[in-house]
Amino acid sequence: MKQSQAVYENLYDEAETMRNQFAEDVLNGLSLPRKRLPCKYIYDNVGTELFSRIMTLREYYPARCEAEILETYGKYLAEKFKEGPVNLIELGAGDGRKTRILIEDLINAGSTFTYVPLDISQAAVHECANQLCLSFPELQVKGMVSDYFDGLKWLSRQDQSKNVALFLGSTIGNFSPRNRRKFLNKLRRSLNPGDMVLIGFDLVKDIDVMVRAYNDSQGITAQFNKNILARINRELGGTFKLDGFRYFSTWDAISGGIQSFLVSKKSQKAHIESLSKTFEFESWEAIHTESSHKFTLPQIRKMASDSGFEIAGQYLDSRHYFADCLWQVV
Ligand code: AVJ
Repeated sequence: MKQSQAVYENLYDEAETMRNQFAEDVLNGLSLPRKRLPCKYIYDNVGTELFSRIMTLREYYPARCEAEILETYGKYLAEKFKEGPVNLIELGAGDGRKTRILIEDLINAGSTFTYVPLDISQAAVHECANQLCLSFPELQVKGMVSDYFDGLKWLSRQDQSKNVALFLGSTIGNFSPRNRRKFLNKLRRSLNPGDMVLIGFDLVKDIDVMVRAYNDSQGITAQFNKNILARINRELGGTFKLDGFRYFSTWDAISGGIQSFLVSKKSQKAHIESLSKTFEFESWEAIHTESSHKFTLPQIRKMASDSGFEIAGQYLDSRHYFADCLWQVV
């Protein structure tokens, strides 16, 4: 067996861009009258590890639901992607755990395809590519370190391969409605007619089920959210005391999502060295850390047509908690 059969394409200059952007976003977010921090910054190595633990929690149903969907419909999906060379592009490399199911089905269906983990984090892309190369020695892997849209555009201009972009796990639920619309439009424009996307949507359901998923009994989700403060401490020289904040998350029926916060338990200050700035928190003042929107099937269908996709399939788990939707660029 070869050491590593993965090839890489790097369209992104990571380190400096990232650090400056992080500092700038923290400054902007904590300067708002209602403080907020972008949830994407939760995912450094520590946060990614905590998220892996969340995915194994009894309360966190989305991970298991989506695995069930891919196990049930993987073979069927593989048949759809079979005719011809396909790039199976994973947006947000993650650990590729769910995609494995699909990859196995594609291999068994005898299709020619390249697996393309695409992420701006070089570490995540390499990790994901290496893991999959180990499990599937014959698999063609092309890791792409890039912004999603630059990466997709580059791929879709490369050759005649059909592109199938995976955006799983209901990551789309983290976007604001406006950013979600922008994302879907850009996604469609980065692809060629006939290309497809498979997007995971968490569906609206019993409120207790949704709320429990973000309030696990082991407090892992709390740690996960607090990691954004821990990361500010680590990377920007912050002085946040994590136990001075309480994690709080709730169902918001107006936005249709779980909204998560870190609430200051007392009046306190935190200094951030890289910003040469001190931020004040009143007692019970909240920092908004994450929105996890949930969707109805009609809302999902409308999103598809509003952003120029045609619905090619819709796959649900047995409890109808989660949907993986296959859309085609028209
Ligand atoms: C990975 C964004 C889908 O919002 O459900 C899990 C992240 N946050 N528990 C979600 C998360 C708290 C997760 N997504």
